[in-house]
Order: sequence, then C-alpha cells, then structure tokens
Amino acid sequence: MDLLTLKQECVNCTRCGLAKTRTNVVFGTGVANAEVMFVGEGPGQSEDEQGLPFVGRSGQLLDCYLQTIGLCRDKNIFIANIVKCRPPNNRDPLAEEWDACLPWLREQFRIIQPKIVVCLGRIAAQRMIRPDFSVSKEHGTWTEKNGVLFTATLHPAALLRSPQRKPEAFEDFVAIREKIHEVCTHTY
Ligand code: URA
Ligand code: SF4
Repeated sequence: MDLLTLKQECVNCTRCGLAKTRTNVVFGTGVANAEVMFVGEGPGQSEDEQGLPFVGRSGQLLDCYLQTIGLCRDKNIFIANIVKCRPPNNRDPLAEEWDACLPWLREQFRIIQPKIVVCLGRIAAQRMIRPDFSVSKEHGTWTEKNGVLFTATLHPAALLRSPQRKPEAFEDFVAIREKIHEVCTHTY
C-alpha cells in the first residue's frame, strides 16, 4: 500500500471514540521517502480544523527549528502524531485511543521507513521510546530499535510556556542535524 491509499483509509477511521468529536482526521504531512520522521502527541484545535499537523502556534515554532537545520515538511521529512484525531479539550489521549490508532502509525513507519524518529514531547517519547522516559531530563539522547534511531525533544508547546528552555531544544536540533549527516543518504 502507498501513503496516499493509507491516508484515504485513515481519514474515514472510526476505530475509537475520538471519531465522534473530531472535525478532521490529521493523518500527517510530508514526503513518502522521508528519512526523518517527527511524531507529536495529537491534534490540537487548529490541527483539527485544518486536518494538518502542527499548524497552530507550536507548529510555527517547530517550523522555525526545522528550518534552521535544513528540514522542511514539504521537502524532506514526515510529521505525524500518536493519535490522529483531537482529544476533546486537548486532554491526553487515553490508552484505548492510542491502542486503536497505533496501526495507522505502524503502517506509516512501514511505508516511509525512516532512519531517524524524533519524538516531540513526553507522550510521544513515552509511547515510542520507554514508558518512563523523562523528556525533561533525557531529551537529546538516542536509542536504537531495530535499526532505527529514536530521540526526543521538548514539545514546542512546552517551549512556548517555558521559553527559557529554547536553547536546550536548539541543541537537540543541532544534534539531529549531525545525526542526519551521519546516517541519512538522500534529500539532505
Ligand atoms: N501538538 C501535537 O502534539 N501535535 C500537533 O499536531 C499539534 C500540536
Ligand atoms: Fe481512528 Fe485514530 Fe481517529 Fe481513533 S484517533 S478514530 S483510531 S484515526
């Protein structure tokens, strides 16, 4: 299956209760041959309205960081979320919602086959790296799983709340750039 076919199936998904309250499924955005994939938590209000990931204020900040290291959502990466539909009032996704939604993310991984996965914030890091992963303390560290390199950085929404932590996030992005130069072969 290709990414477009997967998207067409995903946008009609009713596998969990979030289908009832969403406006749009936020499948994710980017290129199918991305070697670097970013994974956030779940759509917020702007994302739900537009059907695109990270398009609100935190998305604008994310795009700034991406740009500084030569990444662009339309050119060389893919951005997705742990759950594809907005949890009401931006609450954390429930375990059952994550379980229902996981097959979509798995298929995205299978098709895209990223070499590097960057978790944005605690929820993604704890789901993708380790259940007790502390983003605050362990952001910027690398873990290899089945030949794929995983790292996590502070969620851009957290940086908007705590701007004094922006230099730490910037360091993470610089390290991501170095890792890309080490392990990625094309489009960078
Ligand atoms: N926060 C997320 O985790 N994902 C989005 O798509 C937007 C905001
Ligand atoms: Fe389907 Fe995921 Fe949306 Fe639930 S959150 S309805 S599993 S796409």
